[in-house]
Amino acid sequence: MKNCDLPAIITALGGRRALQDLLGVGPSAISNYLARGTLPQWVHAPVCEALRARGYQIDPGSLALVEPDNGTGRTNGSSTGAPNGGSVLLIVGGGIAAYKALEVARRLQDHDVAVTGVMTRGAQEFITPLSLSALTAQKTFTDLFSLTDEAEMGHIRLAREADLVLVAPATANLMARAANGLADDLATTILLATDAPVLMAPAMNPAMWSNPATQDNLARLRSRGVNFVGPAAGDMACGEEGTGRLSEPEVIVSAARDLLDPAPKGPLAGRHAIVTSGPTIEPIDSVRFIANRSSGKQGHAIAAALADRGARVTLVSGPVAIPAPRHVDVVPVETARDMLAACEDALPADLAVCAAAVADWHVTGTRNGKMKKTGDGPAPTLSLAENPDILRHLSTHISRPRLVVGFAAEAEELHANAIAKLARKGCDWIVANDVGPKTGTFGGDNNTVHLITEAENESWQPMQKTAVASKLAARIAAHFGDNND
Ligand code: PMT
Repeated sequence: MKNCDLPAIITALGGRRALQDLLGVGPSAISNYLARGTLPQWVHAPVCEALRARGYQIDPGSLALVEPDNGTGRTNGSSTGAPNGGSVLLIVGGGIAAYKALEVARRLQDHDVAVTGVMTRGAQEFITPLSLSALTAQKTFTDLFSLTDEAEMGHIRLAREADLVLVAPATANLMARAANGLADDLATTILLATDAPVLMAPAMNPAMWSNPATQDNLARLRSRGVNFVGPAAGDMACGEEGTGRLSEPEVIVSAARDLLDPAPKGPLAGRHAIVTSGPTIEPIDSVRFIANRSSGKQGHAIAAALADRGARVTLVSGPVAIPAPRHVDVVPVETARDMLAACEDALPADLAVCAAAVADWHVTGTRNGKMKKTGDGPAPTLSLAENPDILRHLSTHISRPRLVVGFAAEAEELHANAIAKLARKGCDWIVANDVGPKTGTFGGDNNTVHLITEAENESWQPMQKTAVASKLAARIAAHFGDNND
C-alpha cells in the first residue's frame, strides 16, 4: 500500500483517539502507522466506512480523501493534519512527579491536543527536555534568555499562543513564585504573560501542601482564576502519607480537556440520560456470534444531541465502527444481557432512549473455544433462549426514568405494530422507523420516523439521522421544560 495522507485521515475521523477507538488499538499503533505513513490493509474497510459516515468520499484503493460536500470538490490531501483538540503549553516543575508529565503529554495527544513543553531548571534534574520533545514532537523550551528561542518564538508569543497553560507538577516553589507575580525564569514569565486559562496540578510533600504559606498562595491563585486539579491523597515518594500526590495523568488530562472544550450547557443541564445504541452480539462459541446490521449511527447521534443540550449522557453501546460522541460517557457492551446490566448500573436517570437493535435471542449452551467442523454427521443445531427486554425492564423499573423512549423497527404495518409495542413495552414515546429491505435504515445515514406518544402520532419527513436526533432531543428538552419537577 503506498503512502496515504494519514494525518488528514486522522483529522477527518476526529483525531488520534477516535481512530484508536475505531480500530480498537492503542496509541503506539497509531504512532507506528504515522511513522510508516500507511494504514495496514485490514483497517481500510472500517476506516472507509467511518469516513463515509462523516460525509467524506474516499477512494478505497489510495485512501485519497474528498472533503464533505463543500462544493469545491477539493481534496484535502494538502491538509496539515494539525491536531484539532486545542493546544497546551505544558510547564513541568521540578519534583519527583515530573516523570508523570511525560504521560500527561502523551495522553493529551491521544485526544488530539498539541503539546509544547516548557521545563524549569528543577524539572531538568528529573527528566530531560529531549524526552519531552521526543514525545511531543516539538521543541521543549527551558531558557528565558536563549537568543535562539527568542528568535524562533518569543516567550510572549509562547505564552499567548496556547489555548491552555498546564503546570504539572506545580511545586510549592512554582506556586509561590506565580502567586507573587515573579518572572524570574521562563515558566513564571509565561504564567505572568499568558492570557490563556491556567490549570495547575500541584505535587509536594503533605506538610508543604498544608503549610499556611502554600494554602495562602493557593487561595491567591484561585482568586485570580487559576484552576487546580488535585493534589491527591496517598503514599508519597518521600515515604510519607497524606495529601500532596500529583493527580493521575488521566485525571489531569480530563481537567485540561474540560477547560479546552467545556461541556455544553443547555436546557437539559442537570438531567441524566441513558441511551442504548448499536447492535448486540450473541456468541455461538468463542469466535462466532449472531448480530445484526445496526451501525449505531442513530443511537450515537441521539446521545450527541442530548449532550449538546447539556444532559449528562451514558451511552450504552454494542460494538460499532463509529467514533464516540464528545461529552458522553460510553459503556461498551456486547450481549443483550451485558447491555441490561450496564443500563441498570447507570440508573438513576431522568430519561432513557433505547435505540439499540437488541438481539431478541441468545444461543444457549455456548462453548468455550471454536466449534469443530468434523466433516461427517449433521450440522450443529443452535438452540436459542429469549433475551431480557431492556426497554420494558427500564419502563417498569422501581427507579424508572421519568421519560422512557423506545424505537420500533418495523418492516410492515408500521403504525399498528409501533402502537402495540408502545403499550406492550410500557414506554412513554415510541419512535417508529421503517426498516424494510429497500429503506437502508439499518446502517444508512437517513431515517424516516414517526413519533408516537399517548397523545399524538406525528410523521416526520425523511431526514438525516443526525437531524432526527436533534429534533427528538429538542422534543425531549421541551418535555422536561413543560414538566419541570
Ligand atoms: O444503528 P443504525 O444503523 O443507525 O440503525 C438505527 C436503528 C434502525 C437500529 C434504530 O433506529 C432502531 O430502530 N432501533 C431499534 C431496533 C429494534 O430492536 O427494534 P425492535 O422493534 O425490535 O425493538 C423495540 C424496542 O425494544 C427498541 O427500543 C429496542 O431497543 C428495545 N428492545 C428490543 C429487544 C430487547 N431484548 N430489548 C430491548 O430493549
